[in-house]
Amino acid sequence: MSYTFPRSTELFSRAQKSIVGGINSGIRKMEAPVPLYFDHGKGSRLWDVDGNEYIDFQTGQGALLYGHAPAGMAEAIAEQAKKGTHWAAQCELEIEVAERLQKMIPGAERVRFNNSATEVVLAAFRLARAHTGRKLILKFEGHYHGWADEGLVGFAPPPDQWGTEDEPTRLHPSQGVIPEVLEQFVVARWNDPEHLRKRVDQYRGKIAAIVFEPVLCNTSCIPPVSGLLQTIRELCDRDGMMMIADETITGFRFGAGCAQTHFGVLPDLTILGKAIGGGVPFAALVGKEASFAKILSGEVVHAGTLNANPLCLAAAKWCLDEILALGDTHPTQLIDLGQKMMAGLHHLADQHRIPLRPQGPGLVFHTTMLKPGAEEGPVMSYRDYVQRHDAPRWAHLRRCLLEKGVRAIERGLWFVSLAHVEADVDEALQRASLAFAQHAETWQS
Ligand SMILES: Cc1ncc(COP(=O)(O)O)c(C=O)c1O
Repeated sequence: MSYTFPRSTELFSRAQKSIVGGINSGIRKMEAPVPLYFDHGKGSRLWDVDGNEYIDFQTGQGALLYGHAPAGMAEAIAEQAKKGTHWAAQCELEIEVAERLQKMIPGAERVRFNNSATEVVLAAFRLARAHTGRKLILKFEGHYHGWADEGLVGFAPPPDQWGTEDEPTRLHPSQGVIPEVLEQFVVARWNDPEHLRKRVDQYRGKIAAIVFEPVLCNTSCIPPVSGLLQTIRELCDRDGMMMIADETITGFRFGAGCAQTHFGVLPDLTILGKAIGGGVPFAALVGKEASFAKILSGEVVHAGTLNANPLCLAAAKWCLDEILALGDTHPTQLIDLGQKMMAGLHHLADQHRIPLRPQGPGLVFHTTMLKPGAEEGPVMSYRDYVQRHDAPRWAHLRRCLLEKGVRAIERGLWFVSLAHVEADVDEALQRASLAFAQHAETWQS
């Protein structure tokens, strides 16, 4: 039996009369057959308003590293709520959270808080420009750094406009952006250290910072080739640029020290979001003490009414304590579980002759649906992905999975949470087997 969604359909049509497009973040309209309305979640599971139960790998776009409604977190927030929800002033909790970050992340000598990673990205770019007196930010094709004007340059250029291999264009997917913003960026291809060197040399002395997702998770799931992050560090040191790691997705998922510790690099600034708050609006900019000099001197403005909100701090403190309590078992158990899920999906795909290829470190991974005739092998970059991924066919399979109670991210990313256990993976694969059979039977290219 496949799930049906009458109540979600009804709510969605009601929502469209008050909420623009019926949704509050553009990507949510991608969910087919209808954007779902949820009632509650617990651990690895999520229930919609039609009573359908999902094994959830969407996990709030990766924010729910601790699963849905984890025991203890609600109490931590509630206890704080009774004392006050917001002061726009200081409280001891903010020091406690900051001190935990210092303990966990080698490069976190100092921190500042915001409510979303999008804001933190803007703060990091502003700081880097002020610190260096230069205006350009080098970013990589297919990397996502939030939805603001500056975060989306070069995110998803269509093939007919992405420029040459040597000179990727700086396109913005949105209208209404200040046109001059594009001129403040240099775009480079991911996973090509020699190309990166040339790109930096081309603009030598004019680049303030290089920003990157340590594992590219917003286009497929693409780890850096060996030496790439070290090349970024080396070039930043050579030319006085700031190295900005956007660990919004990788932060705490790769362990207490985040992906930078996993890969052995020390950025100047790090952007943290999602898992730092476990689903509440909380984000942080952390980095070397010297990187924050211009905020300290007051020459760079950093502000926000709701920054370091006590409810969010209570949640963040709870989240960080969870990670610290896991010690060395994290992220090993996440990796093992994710790799089991990847292997199971690959096996099912082979059984049903579906060209689906899971890739990634396991604790997060992506399922690429190969286009007819596309080459096998790992996806290495944004262009490679666009050329080989069959998005409509993946969308069809994703819907089959949803109708059998397995929820992945619309564009093909899967997050394993600390609430998932082996039995979840086994059950998800049983359900996926039904979904793959349905897809094989009904997909027409
Ligand atoms: C790498 C990265 N940076 C920044 C952001 C922006 O985060 P937020 O949506 O919380 O502002 C995201 C969101 O998905 C992200 O994946």
